[in-house]
Amino acid sequence: MHLCDALLILFLFPLYNGLNPTCPRKCNCDSTRAVECYRIIEIPRELPSTIRRIYISHSKIKQLQISDFSRMSGLEELILACSGTESVEINTFKSLDKLKTLELWKNKIKHIPTSLPPSLEVLKLGDNSLSILLDSDFDGLKNLRVLDVQNNMILALSFSILYSLCNLQSLTLDGNNMESVSGSLKLFKLKYMSMENNKLHSFSANLFAPLQNLQLLNLNGNFLTKVPLDLPKSLLSLKLERNQLKMIRFQDLLLWFYNETCAQLVLFLLRLPDTLTRLDLKGNNIQEVGEQELKNLKQLQVLNLRNNNISALNCSVLEFLPRLRYLYLDGNPWNCTCDLLGTRRVLMAKGTEVKGGLCSVPAESQGESWMSSKKFLQLCEDHLQSAEKGKEIGKKMNTDDFSSLRANVDDYYYDYEID
Ligand SMILES: *[C@@H]1O[C@H](CO)[C@@H](O)[C@H](O)[C@H]1NC(C)=O
Ligand SMILES: *[C@@H]1O[C@H](CO)[C@@H](O)[C@H](O)[C@H]1NC(C)=O
Ligand SMILES: *[C@@H]1O[C@H](CO)[C@@H](O)[C@H](O)[C@H]1NC(C)=O
Ligand SMILES: *[C@@H]1O[C@H](CO)[C@@H](O)[C@H](O)[C@H]1NC(C)=O
Repeated sequence: MHLCDALLILFLFPLYNGLNPTCPRKCNCDSTRAVECYRIIEIPRELPSTIRRIYISHSKIKQLQISDFSRMSGLEELILACSGTESVEINTFKSLDKLKTLELWKNKIKHIPTSLPPSLEVLKLGDNSLSILLDSDFDGLKNLRVLDVQNNMILALSFSILYSLCNLQSLTLDGNNMESVSGSLKLFKLKYMSMENNKLHSFSANLFAPLQNLQLLNLNGNFLTKVPLDLPKSLLSLKLERNQLKMIRFQDLLLWFYNETCAQLVLFLLRLPDTLTRLDLKGNNIQEVGEQELKNLKQLQVLNLRNNNISALNCSVLEFLPRLRYLYLDGNPWNCTCDLLGTRRVLMAKGTEVKGGLCSVPAESQGESWMSSKKFLQLCEDHLQSAEKGKEIGKKMNTDDFSSLRANVDDYYYDYEID
């Protein structure tokens, strides 16, 4: 369904249309001083000055003007979508000092409206034609919590222009073809940052370090060859799908801590933040996962390694992930040596749900899953027996476990998706 059509359905709340003699044509009004209009060609003149919320979509309103809103001093929320709007007259929203939400998405707007009121908390301008953001665009917006400019035409951005957004919690820059970002990100309240589907190759050193409340960082669909070096300790979820990572080499990572008292970055630890619960590395070109790399991730519950180039996984890697619940391994060319039995054993003992793991080589195991295939186990029978005689397979494998290993051969193989 088209985004704009979805919106249309969303807007059909219970209404008093027709019963309310003051409600403008093609609009529905409700008792909470909200109005919803579609297929109109101008902002209705006859709206009461007490109106709080206006929703407009599927309309043709080329320009917004000061006179459209000048009487509406109580306006808190304006959503105007899918209406072909190209421009907004200077100072149109300036005097609306109760305005908290301004959403103008799916239009043709080229510039962020000027002189937005300091009351504004949510600004969404996705799917427009913005190509440049200026620091004057955000002047004084100290209450802004959400800024969404996804799917525009912003090719480069200096974060320094966002300096006045001291309460910003969510920043969405997806789908802009940005090749570079610069400046510093001193957004201490930011919790969610997304730059999916751009063309970013790298970041300047310590870009993310000051974001001491950042919980989710989405960098999917870029050209990154390295994991950023400076992730804050607050991070819970890191998304790096569809990039160009070749190796996970987390041991090189520096973790920085921003000390607000002395306004300085302090080297804190030498790993990915130990708060991470979810790490998405799908669709890169990772060949190797070393145990050192994942050593500190004691909270990690979801590890997504789908669609990479991994052929082996040493079971000692998993020892460092005590809470791992979901492991995605499909779309990798597994080399099913019997060493994988040790890894399998550790995963079963943890109760981790594993998706994928089909063998590419050797020929006799091809298409079998090293997690669930009986045939694979049988092929390794000899290996098992010699192990039973005392040879250790991985650190966790001890001989008492072999019976449970066999009993689990026919375990139901779960298919699952979580998101
Ligand atoms: C920040 O730095 C100051 C001065 O060096 C120090 O006294 C303070 O303990 C530091 N704060 C934290 C949270 O580490
Ligand atoms: C995948 O890894 C193998 C070595 O295991 C290497 O020969 C091959 O070039 C890699 N594939 C890609 C697409 O990089
Ligand atoms: C797994 O890693 C451990 C520790 O680094 C090493 O001793 C062992 O040989 C590795 N096993 C395989 C099959 O590579
Ligand atoms: C699979 O692993 C074995 C043992 O490490 C190795 O000898 C063999 O060359 C590997 N096969 C491929 C296709 O990488």
